[in-house]
Amino acid sequence: MIKINDKYFDTFIDKNRILSEVAQLATFLNSDYKSQEVIFISVLNGSFMFTSDLMKNIDLDCEVSFIKVKSYSGTSSTGDVNEIIGLTSSITNKHVVILEDIVDSGLTLDKIKKLITKENPKSLKTCALMFKPEAFKGEFKPEYIGFSIANEFVVGFGMDYNEKGRNLEDIYLLNKEANQVKTKSPSLVEIN
Ligand code: IMP
Ligand code: MG
Repeated sequence: MIKINDKYFDTFIDKNRILSEVAQLATFLNSDYKSQEVIFISVLNGSFMFTSDLMKNIDLDCEVSFIKVKSYSGTSSTGDVNEIIGLTSSITNKHVVILEDIVDSGLTLDKIKKLITKENPKSLKTCALMFKPEAFKGEFKPEYIGFSIANEFVVGFGMDYNEKGRNLEDIYLLNKEANQVKTKSPSLVEIN
């Protein structure tokens, strides 16, 4: 068990399993986009580690680009305004694959796909390391999925809990019981 800020987490998926799943995703992409030019668009911050390990296994004529989605409250009654930061290279008429760490409600992905579609890519698909089918209420499901998991909170391998834990090489699952009773385990490692 590890502790990040105020919460306890257990090892969920170890690095070897993650890396073999990532390599498998790369195999699918290498085959589906064989002889085609692809632009991978990685969504920061969470996807940095996934993107790095995926790209080491990609054998395509490709570009890798990174974006951030900015959400802020607008002053108008329309509510939140979202924009993409960092979409610099031209994607018009190119095959685009969005790389996401985790798709939960799917609302972030919906917004990203709608904004990228405006640039008229030749095709647009999503490769997500993790997917929570029970939480999903979006329009666009990822075409490539590493792990489908229950509606639980995970951290590590790029994913954060209050910005902490992104550096962990395994993926951890929130331990609801330990968080309720606040037990101290002898094998506890504290981060922060
Ligand atoms: P969505 O819009 O609900 O699909 O959420 C998308 C974003 O929320 C992901 O790209 C993550 O950054 C974050 N997120 C969702 N679930 C988790 C989780 O279990 N752990 C860490 N971050 C998460
Ligand atoms: Mg993310």
